[in-house]
Amino acid sequence: MPLNIAIDGPAGAGKSTIAKMVAKKKNLIYVDTGAMYRAIALYILRKGTDVNDPDAVSKDCKSANVTIGYEDGVQIVYLNGENVNAFLRTEEVGNVASKTSAVPAVRAQIFDLQQKLAKENDCIMDGRDIGTVVLPWADPKVYLTASSEVRAKRRFDELVAKGEQPDFDKIKADIEQRDYQDMHREISPLKQAEDATLVDSSYMTIEEVVDAICDLCK
Ligand code: DC
Repeated sequence: MPLNIAIDGPAGAGKSTIAKMVAKKKNLIYVDTGAMYRAIALYILRKGTDVNDPDAVSKDCKSANVTIGYEDGVQIVYLNGENVNAFLRTEEVGNVASKTSAVPAVRAQIFDLQQKLAKENDCIMDGRDIGTVVLPWADPKVYLTASSEVRAKRRFDELVAKGEQPDFDKIKADIEQRDYQDMHREISPLKQAEDATLVDSSYMTIEEVVDAICDLCK
């Protein structure tokens, strides 16, 4: 059985940064499941489907075929054969993904892909329901979080570094709204698995978090 590490937690907790570093240290592939949900959200946005209508999302997502490849260790997401990596990391796509990922048909669409990747590769997979639903066998499981204030400040600093002039209160409100949506949906809500280790990164450095997770693998 391959080594499968699950990292779940709220938006902006640093899951992808940490998971990429652990993957490098432990020679694992990094599976970013948020990017898969974002690809379906992109499809729904491009198609002009009403994102607040679960029946329409349910019907239209069936024509979004999401597949994954790796180039130099970087995950590439293909949407109906097109490499869509460059379009996934916007606030708009993230906010829509938080809504559309609550639709059962959307989750069913990529569930098998996620399990197949884990069964065939040593991997670290991050998301919202990896330890609870997708890879119940994962070991170790980590629930990585940080206060919404700290997560908003990290996002704010990232945008400032890119030359943008973000509104801190709006970023914090968006993060809190996504937390609420991700934690209160009926299917696969974000929650800490019973056998997951809680890591609160609010006052930890990136290296300290990476070391804490690598230590759990011993
Ligand atoms: O981690 P992220 O911001 O890229 O995820 C975008 C959205 O996708 C998130 O708000 C909720 C959803 N998601 C999910 O429901 N389950 C996952 N395993 C990963 C992401």
